[in-house]
Amino acid sequence: MLLRKTYGIDLGSSTIKVYSFLKNKSYMEKNMVASKGHTIIAIGNEAYEMFEKSPVNIAVNSPMTFGMIANLELQEIALYSMMKKIDKFLGIGSDMFFSVPLDMTAIEKRAYYHVVNGHWLRQKRVYMVEAPIADALAMGIRMEKNEGSMVVNIGAQSTQFSILTDGNIIMSRKVPIGGRQMNEAICAEIRKRYNLQIGTRTGKRLKIAMGRLNDQRKDARKVVGIDSISGLPREEIISGYVVNAGIMDCVNAIAAEMKIFLERIPPQIAYHISREGIYLTGGSTRIPYIDNYLASYTGVSFNLSPFYEKSTICGLEKIIRDRDLRNWAQPVKQRKL
Ligand SMILES: Nc1ncnc2c1ncn2[C@@H]1O[C@H](COP(=O)(O)OP(=O)(O)OP(=O)(O)O)[C@@H](O)[C@H]1O
Ligand SMILES: [Mg+2]
Repeated sequence: MLLRKTYGIDLGSSTIKVYSFLKNKSYMEKNMVASKGHTIIAIGNEAYEMFEKSPVNIAVNSPMTFGMIANLELQEIALYSMMKKIDKFLGIGSDMFFSVPLDMTAIEKRAYYHVVNGHWLRQKRVYMVEAPIADALAMGIRMEKNEGSMVVNIGAQSTQFSILTDGNIIMSRKVPIGGRQMNEAICAEIRKRYNLQIGTRTGKRLKIAMGRLNDQRKDARKVVGIDSISGLPREEIISGYVVNAGIMDCVNAIAAEMKIFLERIPPQIAYHISREGIYLTGGSTRIPYIDNYLASYTGVSFNLSPFYEKSTICGLEKIIRDRDLRNWAQPVKQRKL
């Protein structure tokens, strides 16, 4: 029998994560493409380096927005270039396990199929795994005889709440707030308090350096930006309190949505969730004390995943490696029109 190559793929708004079964390794690269007119100039991490630094005729964009594929062609190119780096001899025909958002329309499902059966990548077998199921498997949530567990994934451009009972997702909600909105909120806060314009990349740097949701530490960083009034470059020392005020705006919005979501859960399941704790994952949960902050806001305890942004790809890895878990993946076929 011909040995087919198997990959797990988690397409995110900020990064693409790929797991290669053959190499038994996970890879991560920025989901970005830089183009000048119709010419692609840079892809992945290289393209991210150009983000907010390039001249106006160069567009640097992510092919995904709010966790959905927005530009099919660019997404295919970004994925192809990343897979080529992992495996020089990609060949034709391999099995691709995608983590996908819930409640997708037929067109959105087809987008995943076309990403790996388009111009560059061809004749792939496509399987889809609902992202909260992959997260749940990674975090070791019991799939059978489970009275109710809640998974929350805070990513780059979206936050997803899902309730699982006996391996089925019975309720879910996606909110368009994530790490990127936090970066923007930090920039807005700095503009408001210091009259200083900074880029979202600097906002992100400040978030990673100083972001923490307990006000225990006095911290500050120097940044360079453009003065809103004079239009000239200026240095400024930014306090950690300002950065955290921006982050808190977003986390409060997420927490408020979570509270509304929690109120809609049937009582028996809600009781089980409150006893077990809510499972928290996604890259943005790397902000220190976010679990405690959300717990004090909602009154429910949280179990923070040790995998952060990698949890979905870890779940896909489990499904690929363990044949008993394969029933969580649904094959997708191209329907003739
Ligand atoms: N140390 C850190 N502190 C705070 N935020 C972080 C840290 N490391 C990464 N992040 C944020 O995590 C986000 C990426 O998370 P993740 O990889 O889960 O998103 P994604 O899967 O690409 O996006 P989505 O699921 O929304 O499509 C980014 O916004 C990034 O800024
Ligand atoms: Mg994600």
